[in-house]
Amino acid sequence: MFNSTDEVREGLNGQQYVASDEINTVVLLAEKLQKPILCEGPAGVGKTELAKAWAGATGRRLIRLQCYEGLDETKALYEWEYAKQMLYTQLLRDKLHDVLAGSQTLAQAADRIAQEEDVFFSERFLLPRPLLQAVTAGDPVLLLIDEIDRADAEFEAFLLEVLSDFQVSVPELGTKKATSIPAVMLTSNNTRELSEALKRRCLYLFIDYPSVEAELRIVKLRAPDLAPQLARQAVELVQRLRQLDLKKSPSVSETIDWARALVALNAAQLDRATLENTLTVLLKHEQDVQRAKRAISAPSAGSGGTGTAAGGAETPDIEYRNLRPRRRSE
Ligand SMILES: Nc1ncnc2c1ncn2[C@@H]1O[C@H](COP(=O)(O)OP(=O)(O)O)[C@@H](O)[C@H]1O
Ligand SMILES: [Mg+2]
Repeated sequence: MFNSTDEVREGLNGQQYVASDEINTVVLLAEKLQKPILCEGPAGVGKTELAKAWAGATGRRLIRLQCYEGLDETKALYEWEYAKQMLYTQLLRDKLHDVLAGSQTLAQAADRIAQEEDVFFSERFLLPRPLLQAVTAGDPVLLLIDEIDRADAEFEAFLLEVLSDFQVSVPELGTKKATSIPAVMLTSNNTRELSEALKRRCLYLFIDYPSVEAELRIVKLRAPDLAPQLARQAVELVQRLRQLDLKKSPSVSETIDWARALVALNAAQLDRATLENTLTVLLKHEQDVQRAKRAISAPSAGSGGTGTAAGGAETPDIEYRNLRPRRRSE
């Protein structure tokens, strides 16, 4: 278990995850206070990956619940294996016949069947889904509830109950309670506001796009074959693309894909042809590709910077020749 933020950093780094001081602190607190982490931020900034790295660094088994619209308890908690129950009734037909033999009325037959109910509503036919798996796990686990913002508000309320006491009631079998509290991480892509109650129960962490230096470290870890100078140019370009008013800004995963693409193409430098031919690895909307191309070929605004009034205005200085390494103070 972690005892300092340095240990968290080392642990996550050992899983090829580059974490900010804030991430390290929140993970440490989650361990110490045994609280879930609610992690928000744009898509592709490493939220899911953080859960995997945290699990890997602490030797916990990762149990993942991927949320989606319409997700309900049967997919999140448990389900009775109906097909298996049916198969067993078929195979046990002769035995059931014996049980029912001598019943005078329908009610009598139903009563006798009811006495055998336990056989069909037993662990044998129970299909545990991620939440129940996490509650009943005998080994250390990390429960990842991924993209909770995709699930409905009702599901969120139900989840709150499970997270508050880590116990689950299966009417036919009784209450199951976790022997040790699992580590829990929830992620959200911010597509809707989550309830205050859920936020109150969790430690909050916002992961934004990384700084140049952090993203460079990520690229070095995930695409080690890219020449250092090219890696820096690539990261700096991505960072500037994020300042454009795009439909979908390139995420860290796209930076990594691009870095790997440059290695695959044996690119020696980031010249205009390479850049234009590979832009679609970074940008997935034609409109964004066109906008980026325009920005790249637009004349430089000059170092004086006229500072256009509109906040999200395109920064025209992504000029090709400006892709050379910039000063670190940027
Ligand atoms: N801090 C980081 N350190 C290492 N790799 C990262 C980091 N952030 C993102 N990545 C990479 O980006 C990819 C996408 O991250 P992911 O966790 O799926 O994003 P999210 O869940 O936020 O949408 C990961 O598979 C990983 O390769
Ligand atoms: Mg994710």
